[in-house]
Amino acid sequence: MVKIGILGVGTVGASVANILEANADIIEARAGKKIVVKSGVVKNLSKDRGVSIKLSDNPLDVVNDPEIDIVVELMGGVDEPYALVKQALENGKAVVTANKALLAYHRYELQEIAGNLPLMYEASTAGGIPIIGALRTGLSANHIDSIQGIMNGTCNYMLTKMINEGAQYDEILKEAQELGYAEADPTFDVGGFDASHKLLILASIAYGIDAKPEDILIEGIENITSTDVDFAKEFGYEIKSLGIAKKVGNGVELRVHATMIPSESMIAKVDGVMNAVTVIGDRVGETMYYGPGAGGDATASAVISDIVDIVRGNQGPMLGYKKGLESGLKLLPKEEIVTQYYLRLEVDDQSGVLATITSSLGEFGISIETMLQKPTEDEKIAKLLFTTHRCKESEMQEAITALGKLDVVRGEIAMMRIEK
Ligand code: HSE
Repeated sequence: MVKIGILGVGTVGASVANILEANADIIEARAGKKIVVKSGVVKNLSKDRGVSIKLSDNPLDVVNDPEIDIVVELMGGVDEPYALVKQALENGKAVVTANKALLAYHRYELQEIAGNLPLMYEASTAGGIPIIGALRTGLSANHIDSIQGIMNGTCNYMLTKMINEGAQYDEILKEAQELGYAEADPTFDVGGFDASHKLLILASIAYGIDAKPEDILIEGIENITSTDVDFAKEFGYEIKSLGIAKKVGNGVELRVHATMIPSESMIAKVDGVMNAVTVIGDRVGETMYYGPGAGGDATASAVISDIVDIVRGNQGPMLGYKKGLESGLKLLPKEEIVTQYYLRLEVDDQSGVLATITSSLGEFGISIETMLQKPTEDEKIAKLLFTTHRCKESEMQEAITALGKLDVVRGEIAMMRIEK
């Protein structure tokens, strides 16, 4: 019999305990051994968790319990779970974690500490979708050309409602919180940080890249307006918040941002709280993984798949590469990213202004693909909307700074990247 201890019996922890009990027969048949939860840890013992397992408010009751074989960490946060996971590994226990923030900052240290002990994390990225297993095992024959995905259900839920129903940003964020999709601090969702944690985990498995959130380009969905939504519709795009990892020569672009993508692409059709990840391997070609990225049972399904894997004895390097044999690919600096851009700016509605703007863009080598002018409520001011041909991020940033200094340009200039 294998005994489990759960650190954090919230929505996901309770689902793990309940599924292990309800589906015990099939899980035992698949794992080859009986799996039982011995105990769990919560902060507040007076709250009913809807589980029949023994609960404590001291994490060390699980981490230092000699009878517990596998510690499941579902606490959230970074520092406390890091100390507890480290302790559990030092006590010789296998660990399963769903904690993407912990892994975004400490995955390489934890890999070292784990050594030959299993430390698994399927539930950390895209909830119930088995994307870690797909990359770590299913696609291990391939060089990975790119990963592109909707990795945050809250953003996708909000964007879907804003685009399809014209819902207001604040109202829809509140709804996502009430439905339990959003993080405790929803800035992590709408600011792109949650997706960046997941992207960094995938980038380690695909490319062996040891980067932290601070090292990569992360933008949220806070500045998208109905003008951008209307433009996207008119020009055949959907707006999605994407995590993107792309091999370019000997480098890898890593970025999270709101993105215009062609409405006919498969990922553009992924709506609501669902997640989807497309991986292109050099031999397999394009593969796509779709499913619920959040929610108790969906995330618990991924946690239990790790437990079953551990009990079966499946192992291998935690992050997919044997130490010293990583791909050798390096993270490309943000400035080196090359893509197409969408620009929105308000300008004085007078003759010669368009020429001033286009020649200013031209000075930075930026060529315009499409252009649309819209009137505003103020008849002296017009909105200009552009898409550009591919250019470097550094050129675009310099151009935006230069445009912002022109007398004819009013207010902030908004920019979104386009992926085709
Ligand atoms: N807040 C996350 C999301 C939950 O909205 O996708 C899963 O990580």
